[in-house]
Amino acid sequence: MIHKKQSYPQIAKILVALVVLSFTACKSVNQKNTMEVGLKNVSEFPIGTAININKLINDQELMALQLSNFNSITATSDMKMQSILPAENQFNWKKADTILYYAKKHNQRLFGHNLIWHSSTPKWVEEKGANDSAWLGEFMKEYIHKYVGRYKGKVAGWDVVNEAFESAGGEYRKTFWYNNFGKDYIANAFRYAHEADPDAVLFYNDFNIERDTTKLNAVLKMVEEFKKEGVPIHGIGFQMHIRMDTPDEVIAYSLEKAAATGLQIHLSEVDIIFNSHNDERLGGIENFSSITTEMKQAQAEKYKNLVLMYRKIVPKKQQYGITVWDFTDRDSWIKGFFNMKDWPTIYDDDLKPKPAYYGFLEGLKVKTEKK
Ligand code: XIL
Repeated sequence: MIHKKQSYPQIAKILVALVVLSFTACKSVNQKNTMEVGLKNVSEFPIGTAININKLINDQELMALQLSNFNSITATSDMKMQSILPAENQFNWKKADTILYYAKKHNQRLFGHNLIWHSSTPKWVEEKGANDSAWLGEFMKEYIHKYVGRYKGKVAGWDVVNEAFESAGGEYRKTFWYNNFGKDYIANAFRYAHEADPDAVLFYNDFNIERDTTKLNAVLKMVEEFKKEGVPIHGIGFQMHIRMDTPDEVIAYSLEKAAATGLQIHLSEVDIIFNSHNDERLGGIENFSSITTEMKQAQAEKYKNLVLMYRKIVPKKQQYGITVWDFTDRDSWIKGFFNMKDWPTIYDDDLKPKPAYYGFLEGLKVKTEKK
């Protein structure tokens, strides 16, 4: 048989094809591995993500990753008051119903975020309530009864009140709610939520309590008061929006103190940034405008340590779970909210697992003494 001599352009084409082929093979092995393992499959407690429901159901690739890794789901903003009741008497259940449908269909826990948060109180409520505390008190009661009641037995737990303490220092935050009722609105919100669904696990949720001991102590003082007065609080949510320079020892100390209450502990909004954000939410300081291999490795280590600390310090029966706040750098809130670049999550802009993903996985897998 006579073989035709291959011409150079043909050989070049074949080489290119081989390179492309091996590259796609590597890519799919990589993806397949993370899909096969899946964070939830190696975890003893629920692994959750916050997400925008419409984005999720309209993106097959994102959904595949969500399904393989997570068994708990939280809405980033679709279940806040601003979204549920944007105008008087105009309840908007559509997105909450969609996320519930998704959670049920895929056997995931639905976590409710949140009932009362100063940042998501609609303008119309502030305007109407400004001169009418009696109306406002009734409104809060009815809103919580109606909302929690509607999802009774379907939403497993709620962030009942979010961020009721000042960013730093441990004073109650002087919000619209506080200015009307003093701190009593917090206890009342918990009472109403419990009345509407006695089985729901009720959380107080805040940021920086893993690093600001004064703020943590103030939250724990409130928890103790609630326990004494029989206010139904069941858990503490550490948002855990941390930075690479947040010391692990301080986080460990805070988790230990909070776990000593005996309440459920939820790492509820985990992400880890390199740059720094202003705690008053007035933007960020962009010290890094690109990410290096070393930075990625350091972040992987930080994720691993965080997961390990949670497993080692929080007794098993108090481990409500770890929830990340979006799971891709593409979708993370950090860039838009603080107007700076960053790489806070476990998947990159192209939805590929970062070293942080493997750090998280490793943190779940490492053998450790059981609590
Ligand atoms: C953020 C959402 O991720 C953003 O999309 C939205 O613009 C603002 O709120 N602490 C919380 C969350 O409790 O509700 C916030 O979510 C992030 C900080």
